[in-house]
Amino acid sequence: MKPATVIDEVLANEWFAVLKSEELEASPKQVLIMGQRVVVFRTRKGVHAFKDLCIHRGSALSIGTVENDTIVCPYHGWQYDGEGHCVCIPAQSRSAAIPTKAKATVYHSEEKYGLIWVCLGTPSAPIPDLEPYRDPAFSTYTFGPYRVESSAARVIENFLDFSHLMWVHQGYLSDRAFSEMANYQVHRKEGRLVTDEVIVHEYNLEASHREFIPVTYVKEAYRPLTAFLTKTFGTGRIMCILMVSCPIDAHTSVTYTVHAINFDPGKLADYIAMNDAVMMQDVQILENQKPEELPLDLQAELSLKSDLLSIAYRKWLAELGVKMGTA
Ligand code: FES
Ligand code: CO
Repeated sequence: MKPATVIDEVLANEWFAVLKSEELEASPKQVLIMGQRVVVFRTRKGVHAFKDLCIHRGSALSIGTVENDTIVCPYHGWQYDGEGHCVCIPAQSRSAAIPTKAKATVYHSEEKYGLIWVCLGTPSAPIPDLEPYRDPAFSTYTFGPYRVESSAARVIENFLDFSHLMWVHQGYLSDRAFSEMANYQVHRKEGRLVTDEVIVHEYNLEASHREFIPVTYVKEAYRPLTAFLTKTFGTGRIMCILMVSCPIDAHTSVTYTVHAINFDPGKLADYIAMNDAVMMQDVQILENQKPEELPLDLQAELSLKSDLLSIAYRKWLAELGVKMGTA
């Protein structure tokens, strides 16, 4: 049985990507953040996110419609504008005043990197604003949603993990022959965790025969559930991946990645297929890990030097007061 999901006080103030921009069309959509039902919809003013609950009789606004820049409740037709104020109650006369309490609970929402982001509380920090995504030399691609039956923190830790690359991602990224890892350090930089440059031997996608090349990885735990990877391939070719994982509940997450690349990654369909395949290799591990929550007690699992970033990540989450979202 799943544990009760509670809204974590720290994570409530984080931005989560909940949908790709293209996933939100004319109808409103429901998303879940830490068990909380949220309705996301679009008006001419942009995107909006409300608690998915009509104050009249508790209907879900997400099964309503968007009309004239308002969201219309499906039950009795109350209309809420983009700021959450009820502006029309069809059952009462036009001249009757609308009760001041007739309001929706409004959450922060923004659109960035082709994703819709929502914060349930007061944002502790802006949505990561990363240089490569602003640089015209880079093209950006957004991937996901990846729904994983695993906690968001396990998903992020998996992204931060180096020593699985040569094992889980054989055939796509690396090979077990390169498993042994050199020591690296983790640094605190402007409130983030950043590694030294770490060399990972990856398949040379440009070679027609099987060949590995050293690729420089720098990994960052950017926010509690947001990570960033910069890979440099020899001659100035750079690939960045921003990953954000939204806790749907304590044991389920939805993840998106945004890539910024300053070279031609080849046929887009192949590039997408390859990224999805790599993600599926991780998903198989993630959905079978126990416990589902990431243990923050450093004695709970056995760590090695090669796990330094994971250890730093767990310590950092504990320090920030993240509770892992279970009651
Ligand atoms: Fe929404 Fe009645 S429940 S209008
Ligand atoms: Co992986």
